[in-house]
Amino acid sequence: MTQPQTLLATPLTLPNGSVLPNRLAKSALSESLGTYDNRVTPALPTLFGRWAAGGTGLLITGNVMIDRRALGEPGNVVVEDERDLPLLQAWAESATRQGSAIWVQLNHPGKQSPKGLNRENVSPSAIPFKKDMQAFFDTPRELTDAEIRDIIARFARSAAIIKKAGFTGVQIHGAHGYLVSQFLSPHHNIRSDEWGGTPEKRRRFVLEVYRAIRDAVGADFPIGIKLNSADFQRGGFTEEESLDTIKALASAGIDMVEISGGTYEAPAMAGKKQKASSQAREAYFLAFAEQVRTQVTVPLMVTGGFRSLSAMGEALASGALDLIGLGRPLCIEPDASRRLLSGQETRHRVKPIVTGIGMVDRMALMEVAWYTRQLHRMGAGKEPKPNESALWSLANTVVGNVRGTLKTRRLRAS
Ligand SMILES: Cc1cc2nc3c(=O)[nH]c(=O)nc-3n(C[C@H](O)[C@H](O)[C@H](O)COP(=O)(O)O)c2cc1C
Repeated sequence: MTQPQTLLATPLTLPNGSVLPNRLAKSALSESLGTYDNRVTPALPTLFGRWAAGGTGLLITGNVMIDRRALGEPGNVVVEDERDLPLLQAWAESATRQGSAIWVQLNHPGKQSPKGLNRENVSPSAIPFKKDMQAFFDTPRELTDAEIRDIIARFARSAAIIKKAGFTGVQIHGAHGYLVSQFLSPHHNIRSDEWGGTPEKRRRFVLEVYRAIRDAVGADFPIGIKLNSADFQRGGFTEEESLDTIKALASAGIDMVEISGGTYEAPAMAGKKQKASSQAREAYFLAFAEQVRTQVTVPLMVTGGFRSLSAMGEALASGALDLIGLGRPLCIEPDASRRLLSGQETRHRVKPIVTGIGMVDRMALMEVAWYTRQLHRMGAGKEPKPNESALWSLANTVVGNVRGTLKTRRLRAS
């Protein structure tokens, strides 16, 4: 049997001919390393230079927003014009000069943006969040048809700037309950015009976003998507619809599909809802990937739960996927890929981040906060701190988010 490190080290040629140097990919991890008026900072090239030196073949950036009126968190980077082109170029080069591919994840949060950060939040339909989330998220306003078309054009414009800056691909964020995922979901999208009402009409938005980006970047530039296998929410997007969406995107020419799952209302992407059968194989969405593989040939990346060299090797050997997506392991060990590629296990294992406060520990946002602090350490040229206290991180994050929201609002008003 082929050794796992040999499988991991095999380059991957995408259907459009571009080559990824190996099978390890850093999944998008929102860095919140932009300024409060959403400009790129030098911390981003520092952080990505670290990851590229660590041997990961494909680095997907954290979500970059396409509209400064629609932020997901304070400190998001927004790309809607060329004002930051030199820093974007430096960010792209931090990876490409070391041989890694670097794709920008493009996102619009829709309704999934904390209270007070944006003037208002929009969504396909004005559906409130479930009760325990309403303290953090407002009920959105329904988008007009003209606004929907404007958002599609914005995805394309941002992608063109990203290409000009020297990034080697883009990824549409179609997962985790953000705008694309809201359009796909029968729970969040109850429109009766051409953007909702049937699975085909709910899919129309993501297909139009894909086509607009393709027209803007041409046939040779890779476009990927991160998509939920399912939302894990009653009345939400199902595996059956996800499969149909993947088939539609594949026939439209998408270059890669990354499979994840869940939303902040049901955080399956962080392993909070996983079945015992997937625990044994580590990766949360492998069974779904196997199903997808029987129906489409588009390259597949699976993210969520991969930790050991043997599980990664087995998954690649099974043929169910082409790329192993890693998130949290690379927050605490930026050169984990080097070790895996040389046949060694990672030095640090991902552990649950617990404060002891039940309500807080059940939310995916707690983990996100803890890992974001590790990214900030690396962006400042420091080492990550795998044993940092969860409570300390929580306190800092709460203070930081309140300050960040106020500063964002003050800058917007000035
Ligand atoms: C700090 C942090 C930030 C994240 N930001 C994003 C993001 O911007 N876009 C995205 O698609 N997923 C995001 N995720 C989810 C990860 O990409 C990944 O799907 C998840 O962590 C599961 O993979 P893992 O088990 O290897 O960590 C984030 C996760 C963490 C921990």
